[in-house]
Amino acid sequence: MSEAFDKYGRDYGALVNESIRFSGLKVDFFTRAKARHLIQACSRFAGDSRKLRALDVGCGAGGIHPYLSGAFGSITGVDVSAEMLAQARQTSPDVDYRQYDGVTLPFPDEAFEVAYAICVLHHVPEQNWPRFVAEMARVTARPGLVAIFEHNPYNPLTRRAVNRCEFDNDATLLTAGRARGLLGGAGLSSARARHILFAPVEGRPGALLDRWFGWCPLGAQYYAAAVKL
Ligand SMILES: C[S@@+](CC[C@H](N)C(=O)[O-])C[C@H]1O[C@@H](n2cnc3c(N)ncnc32)[C@H](O)[C@@H]1O
Repeated sequence: MSEAFDKYGRDYGALVNESIRFSGLKVDFFTRAKARHLIQACSRFAGDSRKLRALDVGCGAGGIHPYLSGAFGSITGVDVSAEMLAQARQTSPDVDYRQYDGVTLPFPDEAFEVAYAICVLHHVPEQNWPRFVAEMARVTARPGLVAIFEHNPYNPLTRRAVNRCEFDNDATLLTAGRARGLLGGAGLSSARARHILFAPVEGRPGALLDRWFGWCPLGAQYYAAAVKL
């Protein structure tokens, strides 16, 4: 499936928006929330996220990068799709984008303090998940943080959106528990998961709902994170 996303590069946002139209929300609503959670998790981990070098694995068209502006010391994005990366370069010229084979990350060991993947794993064949996460762990420094953001298969609206989305034909959704297990299996410590995006509200109400109900497996998405010690 490596170059499968090449044909969606230009229309990626529009296709996602179409698949979630029933919710009355736009993809940016979800992207902003994930940016906020990523920055918070990194700040909790390091104190100041701005001293961290971040790697975005499967960055796609880089939709989250404008929302991470100034949050990290540097951001590097990798993807298998040249067309998605071309879109990303237009939007965020400050980010270092690289294409790779989807298997071996083109970086030495411990090159980043944070490696994250957002809605990528469900496009990777299930038998390759351990290897994919192990690669994220390999390029993460000690101490470092690895995070996986994914669709929550227990949320019926999420499943509906995935079923409506043309490029999710190949999707194999994974639970937060499975994502946590993959992080632990890659030798990472203190793996935990939080469910997010419980209601179509932003600002303080949205943040509070996510904080109070992170334990409850009903949010639209979740993230699982673990540290490399
Ligand atoms: C649903 S898009 C998500 C893009 C981006 N992370 C976001 O949240 O907007 C999935 C991305 O994963 C990429 N992808 C698929 N298999 C991959 C692999 N093995 N390694 C890296 N990226 C991959 C696709 O090319 C696509 O850009």
